[in-house]
Amino acid sequence: MKSDYVNIALPKGRLGRKVYEAFAAAGYDAPNVLEDTRQLLFENDEKKVCFFWVKASDVAIYVERGAADIGVVGKDILLETGANVYELLDLKRGKCRMMVAAPKDFRDNTDRTLRVATTFPNIARRYFHGKSRDIDVIRLNGSIEVAPLLGLSDVIVDLVETGNTLKANELEPTEEIAKISARLIANKSSFKFKSTAIQAVMNALKETSK
Ligand code: PRP
Repeated sequence: MKSDYVNIALPKGRLGRKVYEAFAAAGYDAPNVLEDTRQLLFENDEKKVCFFWVKASDVAIYVERGAADIGVVGKDILLETGANVYELLDLKRGKCRMMVAAPKDFRDNTDRTLRVATTFPNIARRYFHGKSRDIDVIRLNGSIEVAPLLGLSDVIVDLVETGNTLKANELEPTEEIAKISARLIANKSSFKFKSTAIQAVMNALKETSK
């Protein structure tokens, strides 16, 4: 890794592809980034940037600890982890919503603790605490939508994009917690020491994210 380059952590998967295309459209591309190879780092020597792919939920950790100078992460991860980074820009891609969803016939009985299945325990706790509703958080790693079907939870807190997954599992959205999209984030000390280079990336991306 070259110290005068801006190191950029991109989230693997669907969102990452869209996000890289925004960088490329902004003039920050590199050979083979979208190829399925074993290559780990992708450099553009003219622009002095270096891309690498990491798990979406790890981007904020790389950036917070300075292993990456900047990165792209869903607002959901920022809300959940409270990562100590600068949020520079809303890239307006990967738009979805953090929702509470419940089985169609569900009626909340406030005499009882509400069982909430989610991958986002902090977001769920904060939201229901704000409504003074006692909850029991059941933290799962995925396939959250089956939890109410199997009686594991009363409701779920999860990301909803098209709503198809909810529908397929006989759930309906009941409350919106937050609007989510991809955000450009920066390590706090990198933002100071590589400010010209980082701001150049940010300004170029701003143009493609209108
Ligand atoms: C996300 C989310 C929902 C689904 C919502 O899962 O957790 O399950 O997408 O999308 P929809 O409203 O368009 O149906 P993802 O596919 O990212 O996988 P995951 O289950 O591993 O979180």
